[in-house]
Amino acid sequence: MILIKLGGSVITDKSQYKKFDREQAERLCREIAESGVPVIIVHGAGSFGHVLAKKYSIQNGYTDPEQVQAAAQVHHDAMELGMLMTQTLMDNGIPAASVSPGTCFVMEDGRIVPDNLEPIEALAKMGIMPVTFGDVVMDRTRGFGIVSGDQMMELMAEMFKPERVVFVSDIDGLYTANPKTDPDAELIPEFDAGTLEQVSSVSDVDDVTGGVRNKMESMLRMCGEGRDCVLINGTVPGRLLSLLRGEDVTCTVARM
Ligand code: IPE
Repeated sequence: MILIKLGGSVITDKSQYKKFDREQAERLCREIAESGVPVIIVHGAGSFGHVLAKKYSIQNGYTDPEQVQAAAQVHHDAMELGMLMTQTLMDNGIPAASVSPGTCFVMEDGRIVPDNLEPIEALAKMGIMPVTFGDVVMDRTRGFGIVSGDQMMELMAEMFKPERVVFVSDIDGLYTANPKTDPDAELIPEFDAGTLEQVSSVSDVDDVTGGVRNKMESMLRMCGEGRDCVLINGTVPGRLLSLLRGEDVTCTVARM
């Protein structure tokens, strides 16, 4: 089984509040279906999450009554994107159910902890793909917080022990500098903990869950037991399909 995160940057336009990139999401789901490879999908919230969450500092927990309406709205918006994604998967013949992280996990002082994993396990056992995503989750200490799709990837990897983990983003991989502003930026085909120290963050969009460097760190945490983690560009048609077919593609691979 391959665990795939479809980043918010590929399924939404991150600069515009609640803008679903239907065409791209449909193509990626089609590529997954066409590969025939068993997968579990996690997705980011993109502009369905980050725009409002940042405006109201939802990631810092409850500090102001004004945040309450916004926290509810971010959760609602993230669920809406979840429904759009599961419909897209089902249109491609993949039975899928959107599972808000808050139904199976809680937070304790900013840390996500399992609460009741039975719904996720039962869905998978039945052959229905449990699709989780970045969302607002209630926090026992802070009131509420944000769990990112990357954190959900780590939790799903622990549960399902995938052979490979794939992060689908809008860049070809990890670069020595920001490829959008620096023409000398070079793609790093492979990295480990040592390489990570030498690169700066290449994220240039508003992002309450930390940008590319955080993603790389969580990729390294998910390596091991012969499992590598790959970051690929999902905006290039056919690249995800090629990767799932085991072909060599432009990407960055994290190894222990
Ligand atoms: C963000 O999840 C969750 C919210 C802001 C509600 P992610 O951090 O995984 O989303 P993307 O992939 O960066 O959009």
